[in-house]
Amino acid sequence: MNYSEKLQNVTVLGAAGKMGSGILLLTAIEMADLSLLPENKGKLFVLNAMDTSSEALKGLMKYLKTQVLKAAEKKVIALRKVYEDRADLIDNSEIIDQYVEDVLFIVRPTTNLEAAYESTVIFEAIKEDPELKVKIFTQINQNNKKSPWFCTNTSSIPINVIDSKANLGGRVLGVHFYNPPAIQKLVEIIKTENADMELVEFANMLAKNLKKIVVPSHDFAGFIGNGHFMRDAQYGIAQAEKLMATASFPEAVYMINKVTQDYLIRPMGIFQLIDYVGIDVCQYIMSVMNPYLADENLHCDLLDKMLEIGVRGGQNSDGSQKDGFLKYEKGRVTGFYDLNKKAYVAVDEFQANCDSKLGNPPASVQPWKAVVGNKKKEEVFVAYFNDLKTFDSMGAEIARNYAKRSKEIGLKLVSDKVAFSENDVNTVLLTGFFHAYGPINNY
Ligand SMILES: NC(=O)c1ccc[n+]([C@@H]2O[C@H](COP(=O)([O-])OP(=O)(O)OC[C@H]3O[C@@H](n4cnc5c(N)ncnc54)[C@H](O)[C@@H]3O)[C@@H](O)[C@H]2O)c1
Repeated sequence: MNYSEKLQNVTVLGAAGKMGSGILLLTAIEMADLSLLPENKGKLFVLNAMDTSSEALKGLMKYLKTQVLKAAEKKVIALRKVYEDRADLIDNSEIIDQYVEDVLFIVRPTTNLEAAYESTVIFEAIKEDPELKVKIFTQINQNNKKSPWFCTNTSSIPINVIDSKANLGGRVLGVHFYNPPAIQKLVEIIKTENADMELVEFANMLAKNLKKIVVPSHDFAGFIGNGHFMRDAQYGIAQAEKLMATASFPEAVYMINKVTQDYLIRPMGIFQLIDYVGIDVCQYIMSVMNPYLADENLHCDLLDKMLEIGVRGGQNSDGSQKDGFLKYEKGRVTGFYDLNKKAYVAVDEFQANCDSKLGNPPASVQPWKAVVGNKKKEEVFVAYFNDLKTFDSMGAEIARNYAKRSKEIGLKLVSDKVAFSENDVNTVLLTGFFHAYGPINNY
């Protein structure tokens, strides 16, 4: 496998989307760096940024320019070496400008799928619609004479289903970046039983060059990341519904969200995470995974209800959070949705009452921010979870059960042979979800 040759003509499908734009940025820089190697002098590198929205492609090119500029500024010393035979480039700013020009030169924004007919590698990040993905892959495969490799970013569709439906003969791999791809370190690589091993080698090499942490996952709907997250979310929703026997809807959501963040020392509560990913995206991923699950029903009526009302969460194009279960103003949570009133209720109206119902966590608790980068965090968690074990409060009890369920989900992913090891499950939660500790632990 000639890595550099394979990356000479590439297409990113859905390039203007959340995931596609990040994958495009990473690929553009990797390809430009290859194109600047002495042995590749004179070779044309082409990266098609394909998306159906021409408006979004315009925004994408702006984003790309800004991000490449930042990347160039960071590696200006290395770039000096790259351009050492260019006597005309003297100041740092000239080197940076040249690099930005060289990266942008290889990127071709397009709304035509035909651009992919010449590519050797196709990265796909269009919406999570199995039929659409299969249709597009089939079309490219039938018209591209180069037997291209397909790297799909699907969050939930088994890769073998795409492979057999689009008749790709093993030339497709799950290369599951996390959001945002340029920043998140984790990439899950999912291969089918008949995967082209050269493609697997290529994807691993690419991930290594992009300085990603690779976790292999078996080819099972949802893989490791969503295999854990979707069940964790379903459990959180069920716990909130249970609380609704004695609390209003916004109160119940508030309490479960608080326990999952503060008592479990996670970066955000489960309802905030659902909002972040998008209520619609979560519902859709569950619906794609569910038919493949023999012994459980991965579905939440509550998500359906929220979507019927039009509450979806997700992000605005500037990256700010849209309202979902929670209301966000300038990055702060100011309210919680009330299903009965069909409106948000200010959090101040019920926060004190709910906090007193939950009780305080043990005094050894630390906020996620304080502990996540702590080299001695293991000691913190051992002490805290020890205290939590016998702590008598409603919040502590919910937290204990939640942690137990999260561990069960992790262990099931291993026993169901979705994950290769307990360590892989923990790595996905630590790196893809920024948890400070893995769910499979002995705390
Ligand atoms: N958002 C996440 O957190 C996340 C994380 C990991 C994986 N994923 C997966 O990545 C994929 C993309 O998700 P996203 O969140 O970036 O979606 P998105 O809606 O932000 O982007 C999808 C892009 O695809 C474009 N598109 C739609 N139909 C197209 C077509 N026929 N041809 C070309 N482009 C088309 C849209 O215009 C849009 O720009 C999905 O499979 C999703 O499951 C998402």
